[in-house]
Amino acid sequence: MKGLILIALSAIAAFAFQGVYTEIPKTWDIGAIEESHLPPPDPSVEVQYAPEEYYNSLPEHVIYKTYLRYAEGYQPEGYLDSLHSLEPEIVFDVNKIKTQQDWIEAGKEVFFWPVSGTAKVDPQYRGIENTYLVESGDPITAEGVYPFSRYLIQEKGKVLRGTLSCATCHTRVMSDGSTVIGAQGNTAFDPGFAVGIVEKFKVPKENLDPGMYSLISTPWAPEVKQRVTSRTRDEFVADLMASPNGVMVRQGVGFLPVSVPSLIGIKDIKYLDKTGLMIHEGPEDLMRYAALNQGMDMLTSYNGFIPLGTDEFTQLPTPNEWNHPFGYAGKRYSDEQLYALAQYIYSLTPPENPNIAAPELLAKGERIFIEQGCVTCHTPPIYTNNMLTPVDGFTPPESHFEKYDIFDISVETDTDLSLKARRGTGYYKIPSLRGVWYRQNFFHNGELATLEDIFDPARLKDDYVPTGYKLSTVTSKSVPGHDFGMELNDGDKSALISFLKSL
Ligand code: HEC
Ligand code: HEC
Repeated sequence: MKGLILIALSAIAAFAFQGVYTEIPKTWDIGAIEESHLPPPDPSVEVQYAPEEYYNSLPEHVIYKTYLRYAEGYQPEGYLDSLHSLEPEIVFDVNKIKTQQDWIEAGKEVFFWPVSGTAKVDPQYRGIENTYLVESGDPITAEGVYPFSRYLIQEKGKVLRGTLSCATCHTRVMSDGSTVIGAQGNTAFDPGFAVGIVEKFKVPKENLDPGMYSLISTPWAPEVKQRVTSRTRDEFVADLMASPNGVMVRQGVGFLPVSVPSLIGIKDIKYLDKTGLMIHEGPEDLMRYAALNQGMDMLTSYNGFIPLGTDEFTQLPTPNEWNHPFGYAGKRYSDEQLYALAQYIYSLTPPENPNIAAPELLAKGERIFIEQGCVTCHTPPIYTNNMLTPVDGFTPPESHFEKYDIFDISVETDTDLSLKARRGTGYYKIPSLRGVWYRQNFFHNGELATLEDIFDPARLKDDYVPTGYKLSTVTSKSVPGHDFGMELNDGDKSALISFLKSL
């Protein structure tokens, strides 16, 4: 009898299992996107996403096997020649996915798939290969590998260097040369981009438009437009060169760089992006986030301004002529690819923490964390209460209190990203402090290099030199706001920091 019940139970389990994994959410569901996407802080700006028919007419990515890239001096003898003799191999095949582990492994291929296969690695292109987006400050792993981009073969004999996979920006090389996938990335993205602007895109010296304009402009914030259009190429390049690893000018940021977040443990995180741009309650939301950020947000209309629109940024390009400046070439991920990607990201685990302080010091640090009220916002066990704080100059409308989780206190940090960028919402989310020990460049814009700098009162003064991101033309400036824990004496502060580094 007991055996029969067991058999019956396992039959139900198998059924449920298949039920869960065969129902792939639909990524481009406009109603669902509108529900989960926060509106811009300016209520007069109407946002419209590219229509479903448009999205569905885009060809899907075909995901091939990718190969490691070595730094000079580490590449095994004859490596590139051997790649030239390989047949292309498709590695994402939905028919082969049977178990949850299969979804995770397939998702890893998606995570590493470079949506932009640019410089060819054939001899005549090696000059470009060596300057564009490469040797501009990227750390290498203990094995001499650049883990941020990979070689790909879509046609036998043609080896491309691919970039702009999720792994490009979300992979970290640690100081011991190990690699942590999904951690805050530390590729020198902006300096590489600067080289690309000059060498690859060949942007004329006196002119940044229209590529940069579409990438970073905010039609409703004239000062951002001014910031973009009044800059010469070389001034822009100088600012990009000044971006530390782990901080970057992303599309839609209005030339206000953001620090790259960690994706490890993201399953528990309710709002995505510094500004809480999208609600995240399950894989379908992560899928929509990925689709938007790997191209579709450039086809979103903001009061008629479409960042990659034709006819002066007003019309959707026909699907076959759509080409992202970074080279997405008008493709999209399939729903299955995005579902697998979400399963992979949810499976990522943190590296082992090497700096756990003595138990007494940790206990003291934790006590201070509680006494100082940090727990209210950075609430254990995930060290965030998953809420949004309005920025100075933004008053949440009544309706937001029903729809979103708002902790109605401003932490008074710089407001530009949230008020003046396309990714803005009027809020900053309360970030999780899990894993701060393997992050750098803190606050949304990465202005403070270390945890210690956050609690240094000198940063509130105008003569402070930001230790993380600062514009090339800025010699000193204050880093205001979030003045919690700053009055502590040195002993208490270092106990608090030891505690933070243990999370
Ligand atoms: C060009 C670099 C780049 C690439 C490529 C990239 N990301 Fe990101 N990602 C970022 C940056 C920068 C942010 C922070 C954006 C912000 O806060 O406004 C971010 C934020 C995120 C977030 C929000 C996390 C949080 O806690 O707020 C998720 C999720 C994410 N990326 C997933 C992905 C996935 C999945 C891919 C591949 C499909 C991908 N990213 C590709 C740079 C990149
Ligand atoms: C009122 C809510 C609130 C309280 C209280 C608070 N924080 Fe924060 N904390 C935030 C917000 C919001 C941010 C993000 C600010 C930004 O990016 O501009 C943040 C950022 C941080 C960061 C940087 C994380 C990152 O990824 O950049 C650290 C570290 C931090 N807080 C630690 C603390 C500690 C320690 C305390 C107590 C001494 C504390 N916080 C109290 C809301 C709060």
